[in-house]
Amino acid sequence: MLELFLGFWISRTVMAAVELGVFEILDAEQAGEGLTLEEAQAALGLAARPARALLDTCVATGLLDKEDGRYRNSLLAARYLSSRSTHSLRNYVLDERWCWPAWGRLEDALRADHQLLPEDQEGYHAFPEDFFLDFLHGHSGVMGDRLAEGVDLREATRIMDVGGGSGAVSIALCTAFPHLEAIVVDQPPVAAKAAGHIAEARLSERVTTWPANIFDDALPPDCDVAVLANVLHDFSPDRAREILGRVVEALPRGGRVVILEIVPDDERRSPPLAVAFSVAMIVNTAGGDAHTVPQYRAWLEAAGLVDVVVTPIEGRMVTTVIEAVKPM
Ligand SMILES: C[S@@+](CC[C@H](N)C(=O)[O-])C[C@H]1O[C@@H](n2cnc3c(N)ncnc32)[C@H](O)[C@@H]1O
Repeated sequence: MLELFLGFWISRTVMAAVELGVFEILDAEQAGEGLTLEEAQAALGLAARPARALLDTCVATGLLDKEDGRYRNSLLAARYLSSRSTHSLRNYVLDERWCWPAWGRLEDALRADHQLLPEDQEGYHAFPEDFFLDFLHGHSGVMGDRLAEGVDLREATRIMDVGGGSGAVSIALCTAFPHLEAIVVDQPPVAAKAAGHIAEARLSERVTTWPANIFDDALPPDCDVAVLANVLHDFSPDRAREILGRVVEALPRGGRVVILEIVPDDERRSPPLAVAFSVAMIVNTAGGDAHTVPQYRAWLEAAGLVDVVVTPIEGRMVTTVIEAVKPM
């Protein structure tokens, strides 16, 4: 019971550790065999009591190791929190930190049925410039790898990655399927960021960007698969159906829609993170929700698609692939 309502002590401390640079300091060359409390305290610019509280809580949660009084990043932190890691969730954590004031006023958001953060024209919360909408890059890369295992794209030639964000999913798919090309469709500033990630992955020849508003602008032609990864949950059912309608229209006959989403079970009873995702969507978006598989299936069928296939991908957030085909 206590863990249920005191769990935020831990999550908020992890956010502070990331923001204060704990994992960067311990990742630095000079950290070598780890840092003593005094050395870490000096590097963090904190007094002894808060430095010890912060570092020891990170040890207790498995993010740091402590031996003979020296602190080191654990393998978990090195893989998921160091900004040097390709799987770094650092910006994801910082995004949650950015949203924290809104979680502090959650009752107001629930009463208003509206997010309280500054929002963009689509009702999504505004982002700090330095991790503008590519905060999911590390997470989505891993999800993209899983997607590549869950869908057969051997026959596909060119995918449009609708609301493709940092391009992580396209990068993962084109790495797994070396013949494949991808077009990342997203708002111009996000597409610009994606181009940087694509170049870093040395895939600029096969993965390109298409700066566009998916509600108003033309979608790329000549794609046989449209991927919508972690996009539709940001929108109300009506807006999600509008996006699907536009995507289906842009696809040729025989084209395929592939949705990758976090979904709770059909009755929205479990698992906790997937169900609570609906609360996160109230905090973060104007109309988003943890939509369920039956909803996605109904929307795909209403858009005229057939042969719906649902493939759950493992993981605590219960990511699921929902595919369907535009009839010939
Ligand atoms: C939660 S992110 C998912 C990004 C990416 N698919 C991934 O899995 O990492 C949703 C994406 O949809 C994009 N998006 C939202 N509204 C859009 C619009 N009207 N036109 C184009 N892209 C949009 C956002 O910029 C963002 O990159």
